[in-house]
Amino acid sequence: MRSSLDEEAIRILKTNDRGGFTVPTARLYPYQWNWDSAFAALGFAVFDRQRAWREIETLFEAQWPDGMVPHIVFRQNDPDYFPGPAVWQSNTQPPSSGHSQPPVTASIVLRLVQSGDASDLERARVLFDKMMAFHRWFHDMRDPDGTGLVGIVHPWESGRDNCPDWDIGMERISVPDDLGPYQRRDTDHIDPAERPSSEQYDRYLTIIKFGRECGWDHVEMARSGPFFMGDPGVQFILMRADRDLLRLAELLGEDAAKEQIGRWLDRSQSGCQRLWNPETNAFCARDLRNNEFSDGFTSASILAFYAGAGSDEQRSAMAAHARRILDRVRYGFPSFDPEHARFEAKRYWRGPVWAIINFLIVDGLNEAGETELAGRIRDDTRRLIETAGFFEYFDPNTGEGLGGSDFTWTAAVHLVWGSGSTNSQAA
Ligand code: DGY
Repeated sequence: MRSSLDEEAIRILKTNDRGGFTVPTARLYPYQWNWDSAFAALGFAVFDRQRAWREIETLFEAQWPDGMVPHIVFRQNDPDYFPGPAVWQSNTQPPSSGHSQPPVTASIVLRLVQSGDASDLERARVLFDKMMAFHRWFHDMRDPDGTGLVGIVHPWESGRDNCPDWDIGMERISVPDDLGPYQRRDTDHIDPAERPSSEQYDRYLTIIKFGRECGWDHVEMARSGPFFMGDPGVQFILMRADRDLLRLAELLGEDAAKEQIGRWLDRSQSGCQRLWNPETNAFCARDLRNNEFSDGFTSASILAFYAGAGSDEQRSAMAAHARRILDRVRYGFPSFDPEHARFEAKRYWRGPVWAIINFLIVDGLNEAGETELAGRIRDDTRRLIETAGFFEYFDPNTGEGLGGSDFTWTAAVHLVWGSGSTNSQAA
């Protein structure tokens, strides 16, 4: 039997459905976002499997000829959002943004397959080559020297937009005089204290200007763009997605692909070691232009478990950080270390708790046998949703709901966990 919270979560998914694709929340984010959509599919799968597949399929309709799946798909122009299609100038159909977002799709497709039947496997078969092309794009374009560590060209590519992880890279960006005036729309909808600062927006737009002017040449972005950083989040999510894509290749009998994915996985296992910061004793973000480390432990650092990355010693150091941090806040897992000077409890990715990151963390910790830690984080997430509602993010100290309300991926996480499918085998 469904609880009233389950009904509410289903209502949110249906309300945010724009016909084949889902917006993260009305007004603040009026388009289709890449990883938001993947999580939406997971939520839909609990009550409407056809609709779940449709979500992933419409996302891949926006795939670029070179394999990139963009971070935002603009099917119409909506004045509620800035920067819209005219700023990005992707020259694609449908118009989109010019970079990607954490590639969770293959992992979510595997969940749909493993909890489904032969018809689900057939839906995955149609998507398989597109997913391969997407992963190949990440490995080739975001790691043009084949080091095994992918970089991100914009903080938005991490999905963790204003996390202090990016401060060192952002500080090195000089904002050109001809950036021009622009008007943000996010702060019309949400308290500016819960959003990135205007200095950060100037830099976000400086990167977009560079991309637009080089015609979104991905290698040029990686080699000479204003920003290029290693991100534990994208690196670990890609490693896990490669592993899940390998499993799909096995299920689908895609033998040639298996070898290629195996090579990516081997390379990433060693490449991710470049993110190990011996001072912090943790995986941390790193500026790939000058090798400078960020020194903060984040909710992405702990995704090492989700990826199966690092040595036993490294993982026990990560678990110790996680325990220390959980003892400092009422609700885990904060997006940035609460003991660090740059922590801000209410400002977007500089401290608040995000349900989808918790979902990935819990999956990884359970798989690694860290079930006590996983249980704590899952219980905290549940309490946050029960007390505050389906918000975009939450204050780790007070539990207050922040950012957008009626949020698609928060509703999706609630539904998946509520349906009893906590492990990576089920949707
Ligand atoms: C935003 O507009 O804040 C988005 O997170 C960018 O992807």
